[in-house]
Amino acid sequence: MNERILILGAGGQIGTELCEYLSRKHGSENVIATDIRAISHHDGPCEILDATDADALKQIVDKYSITTVYHLVAMLSATAEKMPEKGWALNMDSLFHVLNLARDKHIKKIFWPSSIAVFGLTTPKHNTPQRTIMEPGTVYGISKSAGELWCQYYHRVYGVDVRSIRYPGLISWKGEPGGGTTDYAVDIFYGAIKDNAYTSFLAEDTYLPMMYMSDAIRATVELMDAPDENVRTRTSYNLAGISFSPAELANAIKKAQPDFQIDYAPDFRNEIALSWPSSIDDSTAQTEWNWQPEYTLDRMVDEMLNGVKTKLNIKA
Ligand SMILES: NC(=O)c1ccc[n+]([C@@H]2O[C@H](COP(=O)([O-])OP(=O)(O)OC[C@H]3O[C@@H](n4cnc5c(N)ncnc54)[C@H](O)[C@@H]3O)[C@@H](O)[C@H]2O)c1
Repeated sequence: MNERILILGAGGQIGTELCEYLSRKHGSENVIATDIRAISHHDGPCEILDATDADALKQIVDKYSITTVYHLVAMLSATAEKMPEKGWALNMDSLFHVLNLARDKHIKKIFWPSSIAVFGLTTPKHNTPQRTIMEPGTVYGISKSAGELWCQYYHRVYGVDVRSIRYPGLISWKGEPGGGTTDYAVDIFYGAIKDNAYTSFLAEDTYLPMMYMSDAIRATVELMDAPDENVRTRTSYNLAGISFSPAELANAIKKAQPDFQIDYAPDFRNEIALSWPSSIDDSTAQTEWNWQPEYTLDRMVDEMLNGVKTKLNIKA
């Protein structure tokens, strides 16, 4: 039977591009894009769906004979710090609804993303290993850490095929970032193109692991396509792309725009960033399903500058 894919949170930063990629691979009629707000970017079936409503979710799964769910709904790190209980409820309730659909054999396969936010101040900061101390300090990180363990539990106890990646900060120009600590690395390109200047909410030397969206989407689909027996990690995989600080990103932008000005006004998001790794060891993903990133910092900066210009309708 053909794969029939449901994307939850398809209107967000990752959903926008994942929807496009999966439509090219499987045909847009086999990709059902849903979100709590209206979606305009998909030419296949679109539905408004609140992922915390288990009955509505089950109806959509039945209506479209869904086999695979990509669960991309979450309240992200910076926003969840402002409303902890709502963040916890959204992140956990929506995950349980999808896990239960697989446990009860209504769907076959799930992708659910975790994050580098599962790590905390007590985690080794450089080249953070796959298995290490995990004491997350944010509501978002606590929800991702608990979610990982629930995924592993549902796989072990009920045989649910759920697969996960601990995404680093993701950089893209097609979808807007949704309230995370790494959003500066997208906002800076809009500042560069519109004003030739940007004020960073992270300090100049705050290093974080990052990844260009094309690499993240390719990783996601490669993990979902990997043979079941290769996926031996059922919590979530570390994934590394490129690690850099705001000052290094600004210097890379200056190669194309020598007059670009950056200054720094660190806020609460810098504290969150300081509790996360500065670089990630992803050798487990490399060994188990052959993961390899393609984008360097310079290649990513080139594509972002051109992409944001295209989006803003400015001639390159
Ligand atoms: N973007 C990143 O840098 C990053 C990094 C690590 C992990 N992640 C994870 O990847 C996933 C997707 O992230 P994103 O950056 O695309 O997030 P986003 O905030 O851009 O998108 C989330 C989408 O979910 C929708 N949504 C919110 N509440 C909903 C509900 N109740 N029902 C249905 N839809 C709802 C929003 O409208 C939004 O379109 C999340 O689980 C996030 O934690 C993202």
